Amino acid sequence: MAAALKPTAVFIAGAHTDVGKTHVACALIAAARAAGLGVEALKPVASGFDPGNWASSDPGRLLAALGQPPTPHALDAISPWRFAAPLAPPMAAKLEGRALPLAPIAAFCQARIRAAEADLVIVEGVGGLMSPIADRATGLDLMAALGLPVLLVGGSYLGAISHLLTAAETLRGRGLRLLAAVVSESAEPAAPDFRETLGSIAEFGVEAFPAPRTASAPWVAELLARLMSAAAGG
Ligand SMILES: Nc1ncnc2c1ncn2[C@@H]1O[C@H](COP(=O)(O)OP(=O)(O)OP(=O)(O)O)[C@@H](O)[C@H]1O
Ligand SMILES: [Mg+2]
Repeated sequence: MAAALKPTAVFIAGAHTDVGKTHVACALIAAARAAGLGVEALKPVASGFDPGNWASSDPGRLLAALGQPPTPHALDAISPWRFAAPLAPPMAAKLEGRALPLAPIAAFCQARIRAAEADLVIVEGVGGLMSPIADRATGLDLMAALGLPVLLVGGSYLGAISHLLTAAETLRGRGLRLLAAVVSESAEPAAPDFRETLGSIAEFGVEAFPAPRTASAPWVAELLARLMSAAAGG
């Protein structure tokens, strides 16, 4: 399919860290490619990055989903700011004696989105909604700088409902558009019932797509359609 003049760009934010942002991003990329859509992805800032073994890192997983060879050039194109320590990026950067201002990160994302020859561009943040992503700046600040609509990913662990609702409220307060929410099923055996968690979130006014831990992902096609139509004004 021909690339749209202006791609639909979506920021994937977490209600918490390690909840499934990259999982959802990769599933969306696969669904977009299967539907014949052009798709690009950015993970501008990544920490806990091991240059000797990065297939399982977020940039590595995104490149694999995009069907791109894992070359240093491809890596630089989607994740220019990479740090070794598995810490919030500004803390990891400090350990390497590097400053990490927000402005160049935002400028990089804007330039890549403007130049994208794709129907959909997915930008993955780091950690939870207000995890520090740059010096004195959280992921929320990057979202606000980019003005992108947000796909919010939460989990189903005990405490996840509060995290998701707090994040949704915070996005609203900052004037950012919540395009859709996804509840990615948590792996802990003791986690509350997945369907009950979804039902409870809906009762509080947030409709969320369920992403259960099953091999097939029938929710993705519907989520992709929602993103594309919402971004087109539907
Ligand atoms: N719905 C799901 N089904 C199957 N596996 C999942 C699901 N959600 C998350 N996972 C798995 O859980 C782990 C953590 O998910 P993922 O890496 O996508 O989280 P993240 O929010 O991107 O983390 P980070 O904050 O480090 O960027 C991964 O191994 C991922 O494949
Ligand atoms: Mg991730």
